[in-house]
Amino acid sequence: MKRLQGKRALITGAARGIGLAFARAYAAEGARVAIADIDLARAETAASEIGGVAVAMDVTDRASIEAGVAATVQALGGIDILVNNAALFTAAPIVEIEWQDFDRVFAVNVAGTLFTLQAVAERMIAQGQGGKIINMASQAGRRGEPLVAVYCASKAAVISLTQSAGLDLIRHGINVNAIAPGVVDGEHWDGVDAFFARYEGKAPGQKKREVGAAVPFGRMGTAEDLTGMAIFLATGEADYIVAQTYNVDGGNWMN
Ligand SMILES: NC(=O)c1ccc[n+]([C@@H]2O[C@H](COP(=O)([O-])OP(=O)(O)OC[C@H]3O[C@@H](n4cnc5c(N)ncnc54)[C@H](O)[C@@H]3O)[C@@H](O)[C@H]2O)c1
Repeated sequence: MKRLQGKRALITGAARGIGLAFARAYAAEGARVAIADIDLARAETAASEIGGVAVAMDVTDRASIEAGVAATVQALGGIDILVNNAALFTAAPIVEIEWQDFDRVFAVNVAGTLFTLQAVAERMIAQGQGGKIINMASQAGRRGEPLVAVYCASKAAVISLTQSAGLDLIRHGINVNAIAPGVVDGEHWDGVDAFFARYEGKAPGQKKREVGAAVPFGRMGTAEDLTGMAIFLATGEADYIVAQTYNVDGGNWMN
């Protein structure tokens, strides 16, 4: 028996990386998946691979969120699962942080998470069958880092929003929880590595090797390392789990 048979899932930022791995895993468990991304061409390629639906969505634009959610409901007949996964990374020493960069990252990571959650929660409440909402937090939201203030603050905000939304929406049978990955290799971390090469004078790939060696498990994570938690939180087995953030990080963080 597939664990998400008949479920309808919307995953933002799923054209690549962790979101794409979740889309593949959900489809393999029987869900029908809408891959929402600002990069529509790549979302279409991903959707055709898993037999899903590609949806154009910019999570910083309320009209775009509404249109993407409406397109998902039209294509799938409703939404049972939302994964708020789209995000941007940025890094800079405190004295070099640009206001514009702060706005850009908070628009995607915080406002995008909240207002996509809001738009989908409205649909779930109207459907009257509850739902599962999973926000992508990060170990960066657990503790500040000297060069990563803006991204860390944005992910701390995601953990806080998960708590507030989780407490508010459980009366509608909607579980809101989050996953806090550690360091997950992929295109996102290619960019992170490049930031550290710039600010710490490291050779390309050096930061990745260092963070991988520092993980208690012994290596960086893969997107596939996270899919078990993403599936579990989307099933009825997680009905009694409310407003939590789970670390899936090879042992980097404990709480
Ligand atoms: N990779 C890691 O090490 C790591 C660690 C902790 C948390 N996370 C979190 O996991 C999630 C996925 O990470 P990833 O590594 O797959 O990232 P990624 O950068 O590879 O993918 C992000 C996706 O979001 C999309 N996106 C960006 N802006 C958007 C917007 N305005 N509207 C819609 N889509 C938009 C991008 O096009 C891309 O497809 C993110 O929330 C990230 O912060 C990642």
